[in-house]
Amino acid sequence: MSTGLEALIPVVNRLQDLVFNTIGSDTLDLPQVVVVGSQSSGKTSVLENIVGRDFLPRGSGIVTRRPLILQLINVDAPPAETNPTSTDSPAVGSEWGEFLHLPGRKFYDFSDINREIQNETLRLAGNNKGISRQPINLKIFSPHVVSLTLVDLPGLTKIPIGDQPTDIERQTRSLILEYIAKPNSIILAVSPANVDIVNSESLKLARQVDPDGKRTVGVLTKLDLMDHGTHALDILSGRVYPLKLGFIALVNRSQQDIQTNLPLKDALRHEQEYFDNHSAYRNISHRCGTLYLTKTLNTLLMNHIRDKLPDIKARLNTLMGQTEQELASYGETTFIGKENRGSLILQLMTKFATSFIASIDGTSSDISV
Ligand code: GDP
Ligand code: NA
Repeated sequence: MSTGLEALIPVVNRLQDLVFNTIGSDTLDLPQVVVVGSQSSGKTSVLENIVGRDFLPRGSGIVTRRPLILQLINVDAPPAETNPTSTDSPAVGSEWGEFLHLPGRKFYDFSDINREIQNETLRLAGNNKGISRQPINLKIFSPHVVSLTLVDLPGLTKIPIGDQPTDIERQTRSLILEYIAKPNSIILAVSPANVDIVNSESLKLARQVDPDGKRTVGVLTKLDLMDHGTHALDILSGRVYPLKLGFIALVNRSQQDIQTNLPLKDALRHEQEYFDNHSAYRNISHRCGTLYLTKTLNTLLMNHIRDKLPDIKARLNTLMGQTEQELASYGETTFIGKENRGSLILQLMTKFATSFIASIDGTSSDISV
């Protein structure tokens, strides 16, 4: 089973190679995915589901107290004969993490990454549950990720706990706004289904910076924790809170699942079974769950790339024009025949555009966002 955003990997890689080899810089400028929600709403769980690996620190109370900027970088898998690898059991050495604050050090053990995030949090944010604006920058290199940036932010809180500063709410709010105000970010506004959606702080914040709801995806967690006999169909259908990109319902791992180390793969299966078998959700179960969320993200990213294509094409054309002029100024008309001028680039472009459109159609045909 493919989890996370793996379907995008070949397309993004091909386009990035093409753009890099011709224009010479990364103009794809993929959006950052920013996860917002109140404390314990399930933000970290959502991020983990998207990445498909569980390496983020968690625990009770506030855990994310500094922004975590998680840069996923797609790298080639090691050759199969020397290092057998598969999505389910990545070979040792095929995936690693690097922190900006520890240059040159590679973390192959993801539990060490987890520990380092906690240590770094304590170092700058202290142990009094305060938050720090200074981000932790972590790069994850893996053959199984799309080159993309994800941001985990401290959770919103109304009432300071322990010896948190009295203005913790204002601090957190302004920190979150800083990230989600960027027009180039996709906001995953997380709300737990067992709390009245009217009070959802993440949706209120998202509306401030994205009033038309063009880049906000509503994520409803903890469906399994709703009172017996109640359900969230009203919210999921958009009747309660209108959002262009809609709401997606999730059942993440419970605290007990985490304590007993329930593998993500099994959790995803349980989640799908939950929606398939629930009398209220059975009919919409294909639009529920983690896989549907990552499909939706895939489509949003694809649409972004599609929007970028005309600009890339224009830049390629300019580049071709410049090359022709340069060649003409050398008087080198025989070196490269008139019929060949720029034809390599054009061929590449055409070939690429064809396969690109095919892959967009392939991934987005069953989704309407
Ligand atoms: P964050 O503080 O917003 O990052 O939330 P976490 O992802 O750390 O989750 C907080 C707690 O809620 C953890 O104990 C999770 O196991 C639990 N949790 C999150 N989502 C769900 C869910 O959908 N169902 C259940 N039962 N528990 C969940
Ligand atoms: Na968290």
